[in-house]
Amino acid sequence: MSSDAGLEGIVATSTSICSIENSVLAYRGYNIDDLAENATFGEVTYLLFYGDLPTRDQLAKMERVIAEGGKVPAAACEIVSRFPKQVPPMEWLRTAVSVLSFFDPDYADNSAEASLRKALRLTGQVTTLVTGFDRLRRGETPLEPVVGKSQAWNFLYQLWGREPDETSVKTFDICLTLHADHELNASTFAARVTAATLSDMHSAVVSAIGTLKGSLHGGANEQVMLMLQKIGDEAKTEEWIKDALVRKVRIMGFGHRVYKNGDPRARHLQRLSEEMGKLRGDLKWFRMSRVIDDVVRKEKNLLPNVDFYSASAYHYLGIPTDLFTPIFACSRITGWTAHVMEQLAHNRLIRPRAEYLGARDLQCQPIDSRG
Ligand SMILES: CC(C)(COP(=O)(O)OP(=O)(O)OC[C@H]1O[C@@H](n2cnc3c(N)ncnc32)[C@H](O)[C@@H]1OP(=O)(O)O)[C@@H](O)C(=O)NCCC(=O)NCCS
Repeated sequence: MSSDAGLEGIVATSTSICSIENSVLAYRGYNIDDLAENATFGEVTYLLFYGDLPTRDQLAKMERVIAEGGKVPAAACEIVSRFPKQVPPMEWLRTAVSVLSFFDPDYADNSAEASLRKALRLTGQVTTLVTGFDRLRRGETPLEPVVGKSQAWNFLYQLWGREPDETSVKTFDICLTLHADHELNASTFAARVTAATLSDMHSAVVSAIGTLKGSLHGGANEQVMLMLQKIGDEAKTEEWIKDALVRKVRIMGFGHRVYKNGDPRARHLQRLSEEMGKLRGDLKWFRMSRVIDDVVRKEKNLLPNVDFYSASAYHYLGIPTDLFTPIFACSRITGWTAHVMEQLAHNRLIRPRAEYLGARDLQCQPIDSRG
């Protein structure tokens, strides 16, 4: 047996949810560029869960179910509100989703109907938890989603405590669409591995959140903003990034395991970052990002991925930097749970092999004669 580090190029499962072919990303056959321009995140959620785009009535019904299910049960609220507040939000979220499972009426039911109910509930609840965490640490009361509003509208409302403006909702909605699914990315793979043991959906989502947190995956967007803030001065950006490359620093938000000709999501986020920067009258972070983008392209032949321009776009939306990765979870919860449902529908235990490189044929000596 031989192994490939990082399973690069290995096809580990089949799926009808998401494809990446010739650098084109599509959800159930719809190009992400088309969806980003012509559909809302609610429509994309429906597409992932039900297999096709919804009619207006179907969308309204599903969004109502998500908003109603997004209310976190009082007993779970009671527990999570006692968690420490000065902890990384992704760790708080991971533990809070675990708590939700205690109170979910379908917790132990892996049937298709119960899994869909859990997927819809979790989609609403993850937003309530992420925004609730931020409000709790600011000394504010968490807010429930408003029934009749979209997930993007509700996220911003539940975070800010006021009705969000249309431009912010539209921008955030596209960000959610772009992050909703991504074939067999590391966190989705983790979710499918957990689901395939016939564990349960909450456990699969907890596995996924723990996996998304890492800086080589979803954690990169937060690191991009921290890098921009560390550089601080627009005039120093070029020198700073060139020096980092000489020191062989890994630049967050660049490179991709699958896309070698560029991540199709990045150009949408670049546009959104520029538009939001103009609107806020502060293009500094966008311009610094452009300089970094140019230098890394030229010096390393690496292109920005989904995390690079989403950092400045979220910053312009006024979202705290340490919520950037939890926002990824608010969107990817749809992809994770869609994949869990697909896994359960055609389940087989996922159990690959490892190439053994250690010692062989050793003799076990009694403990007292070792030394
Ligand atoms: C995404 C990522 C993990 C893919 O990794 P991978 O396919 O395993 O590629 P590798 O880590 O093997 O990198 C291949 C080469 O490119 C270089 N490279 C890849 N990404 C780089 C980056 N962001 N900055 C600097 N160098 C990078 C590596 O140093 C390596 O060079 P070497 O062969 O001279 O050692 C990687 O590009 C990365 O770490 N990016 C930064 C984190 C990030 O933005 N993650 C979000 C992904 S959506």
